[in-house]
Amino acid sequence: MLRWLEKTLFYPYQVFFASERKENQGMMQKYVKGLVGDLGCGSANYRPFCLSLPGVTDYLGMDYPVWAENFNHSVALADSMGALGQTLLRAAPSGAQLWVDGTRLAIGDNRFDTLLSLGVLEHIPNHRAYLSEVCRVLKPGGCLVITIPFLYQAHGGAEGADDFYRWTRSGLVHELKLAGLECLEVEPFGGVGAMFSQLVNGYLIKKIKVYRPGNPLRPLLLGASLTPLFFLVNCIAWVLERLDRDSTFASGYRAVGRKPFAPPGQ
Ligand SMILES: C[S@@+](CC[C@H](N)C(=O)[O-])C[C@H]1O[C@@H](n2cnc3c(N)ncnc32)[C@H](O)[C@@H]1O
Repeated sequence: MLRWLEKTLFYPYQVFFASERKENQGMMQKYVKGLVGDLGCGSANYRPFCLSLPGVTDYLGMDYPVWAENFNHSVALADSMGALGQTLLRAAPSGAQLWVDGTRLAIGDNRFDTLLSLGVLEHIPNHRAYLSEVCRVLKPGGCLVITIPFLYQAHGGAEGADDFYRWTRSGLVHELKLAGLECLEVEPFGGVGAMFSQLVNGYLIKKIKVYRPGNPLRPLLLGASLTPLFFLVNCIAWVLERLDRDSTFASGYRAVGRKPFAPPGQ
C-alpha cells in the first residue's frame, strides 16, 4: 500500500536496497543462464528478474523448511502493524517451490546451469558442506552467484534460523576455491554510504520492531517520528555512496564461482 515510499529517501533502506539491487542485477545479467536454482531463496525476490533474462529457461526457488516458521512470524508481525509495518519490515511469504537442506541435496549431479545463493551462507553452520553440494549439482562451466554480508547487522530469527558467520573478501574467495569453484569475480556490495545507512537505519527499525501488542499506536508513532531521521541518514549515505567506494567498509561481498570443466581424458 505504501510501496511508493520505498523509492524515496524517507524509506530507511532506500540507499542500501537501490545499490544492492542494481549491482546484483548487473552481475546476474552477465552470468545467469539456463536452469537457475535459488538455493535459500527466501521470498524469491529475484525470480521475475531471472525469468526476464533472455538466456534463462527456468527458475527453481529452493528453501530450508526450518526457516518457514521464521517467514510466517515476520509476515504476522508486519501485518499486525498495518500498512506502515508491512512497508518498513518488508516481510513476504516464502517463495520456495522445493524444500531442501542445502547441505544435503536430494538432487543428482550436474543439474543446474546457474545457482544463486543470496545472503544464505552466513546462516549455515556447516557452510562447507553447502558449498560442496553447490559444486556437485552445478553443471561443469555453470556458475554460482553468491552474496554474503560483511559490515551488516546480525540477523536471523526464530530458533534454528541463526546467523553464524562473516567473511572478508579474501575469505569468500578462499571458501569458493576450497569447494572446487574457480572465482571469476569478487566485489564489494554497498559502498560506505549503503553500509552506514543499513547499520544506522537498521538499528532504528529494530527498535520499532520491539512492538508490544496492546499498544498498536507505538510502531506508528515511532515510525512517523523516526522518518526525518531516516531521511537525514539517507542523505548523508547518498552523498557518501557517490564519493567513495572503500571495499574494506562494504556491507558485503558478491562473487561468481565457476565449476571447472573436467580436464580432457577424465
Ligand atoms: C537472509 S535469508 C535470504 C533469503 C533470500 N536469498 C534473499 O536474498 O532474500 C536466508 C535464507 O537462507 C536459507 N537457509 C538457511 N539454512 C539453509 C540450508 N541449510 N539450506 C538451504 N537454505 C538455507 C533460509 O531458509 C533463508 O531463506
